[in-house]
Amino acid sequence: MAKKITDNISWVGKTDWELKMFHGNELSTRRGSSYNAYLLRGISKTVLIDTVWGPYDQEFVSRLRQEIPLEKIDAVVMQHNESDHSGALAELLREIPGTPVYCTAKGEAILRGHYHQEWNFVKVKTGDKLDLGGGESLTFVEAPMLHWPDTMFSYYDGCGGVLFSNDGFGQHYASESLFNDEVPESEMMEEAEKYFANILAPFCPMVTRKVNEILAMNLPLKMICPSHGVIWRKDPESIVKQYLVWADAYALNQVTIVYDTMWNSTRQMAEAIARGIRDAAPQVTVKLFNAAKEDKNDILTEVFHSRALLAGSPTINNGYSYAIAGLLEMVKGMKLKKKAGAAFGSYGWSGEGTRLLSALLTEAGFAVVDEGIRAQWVPDSAALAACEEYGRSFISKLQ
Ligand code: FEO
Repeated sequence: MAKKITDNISWVGKTDWELKMFHGNELSTRRGSSYNAYLLRGISKTVLIDTVWGPYDQEFVSRLRQEIPLEKIDAVVMQHNESDHSGALAELLREIPGTPVYCTAKGEAILRGHYHQEWNFVKVKTGDKLDLGGGESLTFVEAPMLHWPDTMFSYYDGCGGVLFSNDGFGQHYASESLFNDEVPESEMMEEAEKYFANILAPFCPMVTRKVNEILAMNLPLKMICPSHGVIWRKDPESIVKQYLVWADAYALNQVTIVYDTMWNSTRQMAEAIARGIRDAAPQVTVKLFNAAKEDKNDILTEVFHSRALLAGSPTINNGYSYAIAGLLEMVKGMKLKKKAGAAFGSYGWSGEGTRLLSALLTEAGFAVVDEGIRAQWVPDSAALAACEEYGRSFISKLQ
């Protein structure tokens, strides 16, 4: 059912408590998610902003009908047309054909590519306004690659200023509460960071540019309404500023060690390297993850906020393990900046895994500090001592 945000804005989205994976199997969503759609009732025009994911299209339209006679919707604003937001549009427009669909030029192309329909598209660009009557309007701001080419934000100048930001400032976070001041801050921020790391990190330069552009407009801002998760009602500027921090080669004083292991040799190496780092630099947070066992997206979030990544794999079939290869492929896609790296691993005979892993780290944009460390067969106490010494040496190169 619809939930009231202000006297004239209602949330008409869908909370998806059972969602565990998003983007196919690419992104874990441990706390579910929501597909936020908003109904904005202006003096002379009523506008629907975004819809919900396809599996919920009938439920969405039926609940929307309980909130407003559908023919009273004057326009639909599609800020971004990935299926989680546009999935219910076809069902809705079957009921109210001819309703104008406001979107960017790229948005129209994507909607045509997805749904193959001749809808009443109204193309908009930055600065275009939709007059809502009573001197109020919705102003569109294109935000390409945040995170698709079609993305735009919409700024409502009523209610003290409301920014509808679609995926920007979102969290995959299901909640019966609508607002950031009604949920535990730590879990909400954990999800906001995971969302940024896994979805927006590749586009950091665009994030910085767009956020600064919006800040320079000096617009009153009472709320930010994203398309996933809770609304930023309390101190909405804080997430805007946090985005600038996250987008600027973000790094805590953390080293993340990600490894895979077949018979525990590489695991023992990882743990010995961690001991060495901690011994030489107790102020550094060191975290270890088995890439084959831990949630890949949680690991990516840890890498996102680390200064350095140590990647370990046994040599297998003249290469490295499937789990490490998959994880580093995802890390490469994040286009992280100013992070150090190195490789390590056990081997039996050929032993080229560590060298190939170093090359993979370089390809992923890491400054590889040395040739890494290897251990043959099962590391004995001398080999483990060498790994500890390697950890001390590695951290000293980052100081
Ligand atoms: Fe939430 Fe890019 O869709």
